Amino acid sequence: MKINYSVLPMLYRVKFSLMWKMFMGFAKMAVARALPKEKKNHFKDLSLVYFKLTPLCNLRCKMCGQYGDKGSMLDAGYAAAEAKTIVPLETYKKVVDEIAGTVPIVYAWGGEPFLYPDLMPLGKYVVDKGIYFAVNTNGTLLERHAEQIVRDQWSTVFISLDAFKETNDEMRGKGSYDAVCRGIAAINAEKKKQHSSLPVLGMVTVVTNRNYQKLEEFVLATRDFNLDLHMFNLGTYTNDAIVAEQKEFMKKNFDMDIEFLEGYNTGYNENIDGKLLYDILQKIHDHKFGSQDGQKALGSTRITVPALNPEKINIYYSELDTPVRNHCIVPWTHCNINYNGDVHFCADYADYIIGNIKNSSLKEIYNSDKANKFRDVINASPGGMFPGCLRCYQNMLFGKRIKGF
Ligand SMILES: C[S@@+](CC[C@H](N)C(=O)[O-])C[C@H]1O[C@@H](n2cnc3c(N)ncnc32)[C@H](O)[C@@H]1O
Ligand code: SF4
Repeated sequence: MKINYSVLPMLYRVKFSLMWKMFMGFAKMAVARALPKEKKNHFKDLSLVYFKLTPLCNLRCKMCGQYGDKGSMLDAGYAAAEAKTIVPLETYKKVVDEIAGTVPIVYAWGGEPFLYPDLMPLGKYVVDKGIYFAVNTNGTLLERHAEQIVRDQWSTVFISLDAFKETNDEMRGKGSYDAVCRGIAAINAEKKKQHSSLPVLGMVTVVTNRNYQKLEEFVLATRDFNLDLHMFNLGTYTNDAIVAEQKEFMKKNFDMDIEFLEGYNTGYNENIDGKLLYDILQKIHDHKFGSQDGQKALGSTRITVPALNPEKINIYYSELDTPVRNHCIVPWTHCNINYNGDVHFCADYADYIIGNIKNSSLKEIYNSDKANKFRDVINASPGGMFPGCLRCYQNMLFGKRIKGF
């Protein structure tokens, strides 16, 4: 299985400057990991800023922590009220000015980022400041923006698609598969028309007990998408016991209640046959994959998050309390700016807020006492993580590989 560093050769082929920005991001994280975790100017180690642009979404994907079966945003009235608090473009621009030259990568997501009214001018602003601009979208609203995305030279568009039409639409909503196909075709047509290698076209597939058996056929079906990158996300899952333990932990250490972890207590991890999944992933990761029947092999780089040893895939899904990554580096090198301006470390768990960009600079927030308290507690915790971090996506991408996994 290929790991996240495998994107570097692919980026080198597409555009050297993009590879360099991504490399700088990885390098800053590696250096921060190696250095003592003392109190200092952590802002200069910041390598990746997430802009969670909106709480709104036009889909209701079943496994999603926000809008899924146990989602935190399911109450329509709540989501609509929250949408009134979104950060204006001018405030984001100030943040971009502040991080330009320090932070190599900005990653925009949501909700559905194309529902943020000023996504297009924001994207252009970030790109013009020389920052790697990646957007994670459900792809259903992509088609109408394709021309400008290519013209503005966004770095990467990550499109979420999990399976063939029937299974995908059962999980993500009727019509979503076809809308995504139209969006991808529009981007490819514009890249050709504008003679552009950008944006890097990435696909994110979340593995669930609904789609894993047919992943091979699905990947073959992506042949016409001209993907540069296909990420297989083994998924964020939790259970009652872990949620209860995390609640107790946060109460004891921060005197606070939490609400976001429960959204991932969906059960879509259950009954996944790890051996079968591993065999499928191995096939998909073979560089000759797709070259059946006289076809050229699929050109995309394929990575798994997290890349695991074969015999451990069962554990990933069936023993959620067994850690596979630890010593998360996120509180020292990343932060997420929520749709309302609140800043927190963990993108999926917006419980512990360290400040708000409507009131303070990001540097002040990132180096604040509240931020340092979080760092002190996580640093002192077993394995350098909290009980609720066990299958966190960021920990899977940027945590330390535990021996044997
Ligand atoms: C929350 S979405 C927000 C962006 C956009 N709405 C989309 O779906 O791409 C960000 C990414 O998380 C993925 N995702 C959804 N549920 C997940 C889960 N339980 N575990 C891991 N990733 C998940 C989505 O497929 C998407 O690639
Ligand atoms: S499109 Fe994205 S944010 Fe919306 S429900 Fe699906 S995974 Fe969640």
